[in-house]
Amino acid sequence: MSNIGDYKERLAHSDWSEVHEELDYRPEGILNIGWHCSDRICRQGKGDKLALLWENVCGHEKRYTFNELRLASNTIGAHLRKLGIRDEDRVCLFMDRIPELYIGFLGILKIGAVAQPLFSAFGDESLFVRLDNAGTRAILTQRKHVGKVRKILDRLPQLEHIIIVDHDGKKALEDRESVFNLAEAETVDAFDIFPTRAESPSVLHYTSGTTGQPKGVQHVHYSLISQYLTTKWVLDLQENDIYWCTADPGWVTGTSYGIIGPWSLGITQCVLDAGFSAEAWYRFIDKHSISMWYSAPTAIRSLMKAGEEVVKRADLSSLRHLASVGEPLNAEAVIWSERVLGKPFLDTYWQTETGSIMITNLPGMPIKPGSMGKCFPGIQGAVLNAKTFEPITEPGIVGLIGFRPGWPAMMRGYWKNEKVYQEKFRNGWYLPGDRAKLDAEGYFWFVGRDDDVINTGGHLISPFEVESALLEYEAVAESAVVAKPDEVNMEVVKAYVLLKDGYLANQDTELEIMNFIRKKLSPLAMPQEIEFVGSLPKTRSGKIMRRILHAREWGEEIGDTSTLEDDE
Ligand code: PRX
Repeated sequence: MSNIGDYKERLAHSDWSEVHEELDYRPEGILNIGWHCSDRICRQGKGDKLALLWENVCGHEKRYTFNELRLASNTIGAHLRKLGIRDEDRVCLFMDRIPELYIGFLGILKIGAVAQPLFSAFGDESLFVRLDNAGTRAILTQRKHVGKVRKILDRLPQLEHIIIVDHDGKKALEDRESVFNLAEAETVDAFDIFPTRAESPSVLHYTSGTTGQPKGVQHVHYSLISQYLTTKWVLDLQENDIYWCTADPGWVTGTSYGIIGPWSLGITQCVLDAGFSAEAWYRFIDKHSISMWYSAPTAIRSLMKAGEEVVKRADLSSLRHLASVGEPLNAEAVIWSERVLGKPFLDTYWQTETGSIMITNLPGMPIKPGSMGKCFPGIQGAVLNAKTFEPITEPGIVGLIGFRPGWPAMMRGYWKNEKVYQEKFRNGWYLPGDRAKLDAEGYFWFVGRDDDVINTGGHLISPFEVESALLEYEAVAESAVVAKPDEVNMEVVKAYVLLKDGYLANQDTELEIMNFIRKKLSPLAMPQEIEFVGSLPKTRSGKIMRRILHAREWGEEIGDTSTLEDDE
């Protein structure tokens, strides 16, 4: 029996406040995600239950019970407090998927500070713009990543503490650096958790848009309500489940559903701190008897590519429920998983700004492979006419996705960017920036993004950020960055580059530029192809027309270029 029971009944009715009591929350009272995910679970008598089972690439394991999670997050919180970190200060987590990342996240929230997780593969420039914008006061990081922080430290006067969580005492510390080894720190049992309320800030995730620098999406502790209920009903986590979310907490899936969702329900979760390998992934499921698996379409397509022989080498019979997020989940992937893994992946749609699942296939609901499903109970969503912003009632007509604001996990703003935040609303609807169509039964079918943002393997890349970085490479005069189709990642980054006089358009230059972007931004933002051109299509006032290049990549009609000649 699924947690949601009769999905039809739920679809007809949902009131978020119904879960207040279940979560021991009284309106106006204290609400702290750190406490809810550890202390509260211990209070329920589950202190000895396994909370985290962590494994790295060498197969080395670490295990933490909910009580150990409570103690360890107290200990990190107390350490930060001792350093002078206060409520609402931004504390960055810049680590691989090691236990300190998950525990540190709760510790930061327990002192009322704001957790700012950043993907550890980010290069120094990606790191700089996000730390600078957030005015981050402290960063928890690892020895292997501290070099990137050192490179940008001069430009970050507000960053007072660089805390290294795995220092071996061998290398000397530099300016503003200190060491914190969880295993050696004195455990803090009794801890005064900061009395955060529903609207107190909790998490700051950075996301990329078409223009400008990345935006800090501000969440509050009340997001827990949506994250808890969606985890319960969509991911259907039940007491004895062993859960695996493959997302990195540098991105929103890894926090909403890789920390908050499962732990607020007191569920055991596994973390594999290693890159993708079909064999290793199947072995991981087999070894730990994983029963619920939340992953992403690119990973699923990579598994499909790896073939069926490798599936047969593992026992996957523990799997009882699968779900996916981040990019379009093609019908073939759903059909494949049902045939080969015995269960279909349920598609879920949401984004950093929404904080929790918005459109989804619910347990028990008939799946239409290729469709994202319906609005989660309590979410009012529509497909809107792009000019009037009125709902389109006719099925099959493409429009903009829109949601009526008001669900608990909705972002409360973009950090220091009220103007862009306001631009996300039209006619009372929040616009996530995606296009879709509805069918006669109210299922949503994803069509594409409504901007130039590139979604590569579920990661959003801003063409602006890549173009800005390209211009810093000495040989580049101009560039335009667009998405190029890719069999596995759906989209990859492609750069059109105009070189300065005297530079050679050859493979060496291409590789040098790729490497430059990989180090400066991240491996995800690195162009998979660079095409050297003599000129770039521009409007009369000199704005580069990415749309023409995009259409060329996708073999689409360019349409009426006379309108493109003018700035819109
Ligand atoms: O374009 C949509 C796409 O990913 C965007 C959100 O990206 P991000 O904020 O990084 O959050 C990713 C994980 C929640 C969306 O605006 N997207 C997300 N889920 C789907 C999707 N596109 C198609 N189908 C989905 N299920």
